[in-house]
Amino acid sequence: MAQSDGVAHSKLRLGVNIDHVATVRNARGGSLPDPVRAAQLAIAAGADGITAHLREDRRHILDADIVRLRQLIDKPLNFEMAATSQMLDIALQTRPHAACLVPEKRTERTTEGGLDVVGGFAHLAPFIDGLRRGGIRVSLFIEPSIEALEAASALKAPVVELHTGSWCHAVANGEQKLADQEFERLRKAAIHAEQIGLECHAGHGLDFHTARQIARLPQIVELNIGHFLIGESIFIGLDAAIHHMRAAMDDGRAHCLS
Ligand code: PXP
Repeated sequence: MAQSDGVAHSKLRLGVNIDHVATVRNARGGSLPDPVRAAQLAIAAGADGITAHLREDRRHILDADIVRLRQLIDKPLNFEMAATSQMLDIALQTRPHAACLVPEKRTERTTEGGLDVVGGFAHLAPFIDGLRRGGIRVSLFIEPSIEALEAASALKAPVVELHTGSWCHAVANGEQKLADQEFERLRKAAIHAEQIGLECHAGHGLDFHTARQIARLPQIVELNIGHFLIGESIFIGLDAAIHHMRAAMDDGRAHCLS
């Protein structure tokens, strides 16, 4: 438990996304660097779980990586997937601890925007049901809006992951006013998620600074971070990058917003 103003808050979990180790591997088509080795190192450095996104176009993580991750890591695997029958079959075969449903477009560079949980309600429902029946904890990657949270709750997903991309983008571009507005959306969404009984995670585009800031929202219990950590590890090593991230998160948690 982290203490802030005498109030104990739950520990914030760190999920490390190792997709971009696979991006570097695939640039040469061989087996190195091995994303499973990165996952093991991340866990040794303090990661609470590993996240991997098997995209439809297999641009980074490959099917065999998911199988090996499942066999060779001893912390929860969070399997990011699009709501397609092929991905559902793979999830049910490999049985990760959790599956995070994300929107996916072939032309995007990364996951742009959250799931359309309102318009896509009928499409998503059987996938959430199928995963739940398979004993896999489902999370929905959504925009920080009350409407999306209400739809996630109606879909009976136990967990939501709030998309922090717009906020991080505004912070990185020095657009202070927009950044403040985006952070306020995240803050209100995290509070609402807790009120309606949804476990709240967050991720996308986080670095040391933004992870410290978002850690101040006590309703958020897990951050999923990839690109920045893998990039930073080129300069300071994965172990040090994860230790710095852990310290930033703990520092934020010690200064929670009420
Ligand atoms: N969470 C989700 C649902 C994502 O799709 C991604 C990107 O794959 C992340 C977290 C991690 O984002 P980043 O790599 O920018 O840290």
